Amino acid sequence: MSCCYVLDLRFTPQGVPVPTYAYSVLRDISPGESLRIWSPEEPTLLMAQLQNHMRHTLVWRAATDGQGYLITLHIRGPGEALALGDTLRRDHDEMNARLVRSLSLVNGGHWREAVSEVTAFDRALRAHILIENDLLAPLAARAAEEPTALMRREHDDILVQLDAIQEVCAASEESCKDLDTWLGLLAASLNKHEFREETLLFGAWERAAGVGHETLLNEVRRRLSSPAA
Ligand SMILES: [Fe+2]
Ligand SMILES: [Fe+2]
Repeated sequence: MSCCYVLDLRFTPQGVPVPTYAYSVLRDISPGESLRIWSPEEPTLLMAQLQNHMRHTLVWRAATDGQGYLITLHIRGPGEALALGDTLRRDHDEMNARLVRSLSLVNGGHWREAVSEVTAFDRALRAHILIENDLLAPLAARAAEEPTALMRREHDDILVQLDAIQEVCAASEESCKDLDTWLGLLAASLNKHEFREETLLFGAWERAAGVGHETLLNEVRRRLSSPAA
């Protein structure tokens, strides 16, 4: 990872949140380029926020000298494929964005648009769950037995919630208030569920994928990009 420009976060302008400042610099850097960031604070949370803004295209590592952290960061270019974990994290983000849009459409009284957004969200989430259950969970069924079992149970609960949401969507516009409640409950469930997967399972799946990684990754990408109707 060759590098050049160094962004020193000790010089963040007063009143500007550090992630906002870092992102304002990062978005002007072209894909395929690298950067170093000096941060006086431990950077895990900052990098999670930046990954979210940059759609998980960042590859980074940090080293500390006890005074602060030097983060070496690379923005993947168009020819550099995302790793399995980042592909799934990006899909989490995209589904969460759809859920937020659905909620705001419901709250704005745009029933028809809300139902259409919820339908797309439902399709994407069911495809995501199938990929995790069928393709990925078997990879680390032994190495991550407990989190895998928990993930499967949570998937079952989420599917029940999705069925309930579909019922509401099939009903009349007067059900709008119920849809708001169901979507709010699902957002809370998903939030915890995705965090657990990202911290307990994605690393285990990447390690277990090993030799057949490329084939698996292509299959995951294919199924995420065209969820069955
Ligand atoms: Fe999941
Ligand atoms: Fe997931």
